[in-house]
Amino acid sequence: MRKRNGLALIMKSVPVFLYAAAHPTGKALDTIRRELGYYRPNFMGNQWAGWTMPDMLLEKPDEGPSEASRARGITMIGARPWVALYNIPILSTDFSVARRIARMVSARGGGLPTVQTLGLVHGEDSTEIACMLLEPNQIGADRVQNQVETLAVEEGVEVEKGYFTDFSPEMIIEKYMNLTSAQRD
Ligand SMILES: *[C@@H]1O[C@H](CO)[C@@H](O)[C@H](O)[C@H]1NC(C)=O
Repeated sequence: MRKRNGLALIMKSVPVFLYAAAHPTGKALDTIRRELGYYRPNFMGNQWAGWTMPDMLLEKPDEGPSEASRARGITMIGARPWVALYNIPILSTDFSVARRIARMVSARGGGLPTVQTLGLVHGEDSTEIACMLLEPNQIGADRVQNQVETLAVEEGVEVEKGYFTDFSPEMIIEKYMNLTSAQRD
């Protein structure tokens, strides 16, 4: 009950975009992000360093107000099978290299199916390839890591072992179990 009230409150105060099974026509998350300008380069010419929210949203949200406040931002709510988020550091400050590798490893660029990528600026001395693995049980982090390492050799750059930026389903269940058993004690 508390959860449902919380959700109703979010839907009134911030623009809410629905994706995948939560959206009437199953709109994909990356389509919505693209429409909102999420991936548009915004740092030193052609680089991407996190989303800077436009003052006015161009697309009408599925719920809530059409204007976003900077303090509250927007919310995306979707229902879809588990996605793994895996980032791979590239030891080069040449962003065009990261972007090229990101493109080649992604499904959009003709690389690994079910893999979406984004080249990122990461601090002052490296770049990163952020990967969304839409079917992590079919094409997992190992495959992506191998592919990126192969492409990096061709580009003459070094790559570090990647890391997950979200929890695995097993980890979430374990955390939940820990939480509920702590409450019982
Ligand atoms: C759950 O609790 C155990 C025992 O305290 C701990 O070792 C483990 O790291 C916890 N798991 C998570 C995901 O927090």
